[in-house]
Amino acid sequence: MLERLGKMLGGKQEDTTSTTFDDKGVIPHHIAVIMDGNGRWAKKRNLPRIAGHHQGMKTVKEIVRAADAIGVGILTMYAFSTENWKRPKDEVDYLMKLPQEFLATELKELMERNVRISMIGSREELPEHTLKALLEAEQKTKNNTGLQLNFALNYGGRVEIVKAMKEIADLVKAGELKPEQIDEELISSHLYTREIPDPDLLIRTSGEIRVSNFMLWQLAYTEFWFTDVFWPDFKREHFYQAIADYQRRARRYGAV
Ligand code: FPP
Repeated sequence: MLERLGKMLGGKQEDTTSTTFDDKGVIPHHIAVIMDGNGRWAKKRNLPRIAGHHQGMKTVKEIVRAADAIGVGILTMYAFSTENWKRPKDEVDYLMKLPQEFLATELKELMERNVRISMIGSREELPEHTLKALLEAEQKTKNNTGLQLNFALNYGGRVEIVKAMKEIADLVKAGELKPEQIDEELISSHLYTREIPDPDLLIRTSGEIRVSNFMLWQLAYTEFWFTDVFWPDFKREHFYQAIADYQRRARRYGAV
């Protein structure tokens, strides 16, 4: 099956040469995605920005299926940043309704696919209805053993690191930890991602070449892949193209 999926690649990306990923090669275990370009996609069509987000939600479904089909272990999707609260209220309200809308229609299929849902980010500021939908999905899917689908919601990489530093400082202050015991592993264990390995591949759509406060600690050795395609236009072929490019890179982690 993997061979067939590998052959489905479109090869429309201008920044790549290969049209197929190697189905016997390494599939990145953890893929993080910055889903960007919803607003511009909508503007191009004279539609309100929220129409772009709605279409973006459909892309989430497509990419979850694509990831599941080839055995990706973890997919982390940047759905709302700590900075996104600055957007117009109607847009924020809409974005906060999306998890419910997505889960209402998709949870059945996600269960069938053995997908485990989780959320990273600060839960405190989220509206009750958003949090409730996510907690229910986490609860219902907690024993699933397939793809782990993480939504980064009200997530900020710097806020996450500040939170970890405060927790560690409190432990030192209480005499439960010595400063010399602070190491990378300890810091990682105080992040939202404490139970999951760092991303192997980061995908960002829409032509922006930056990380925008996403997984600042965790991206230390991640391979980055950018495309000009807006998120609502991003298809399975683009996703597999990113994997094909990833497979051609040599990861050295600072060694030679
Ligand atoms: C960035 O594009 C996108 C977001 C801030 C929202 C991303 C959310 C989704 C794709 C839907 C998530 C779905 C679920 C199920 C939670 P932008 O609006 O900044 O685009 P622009 O840069 O073109 O304006």
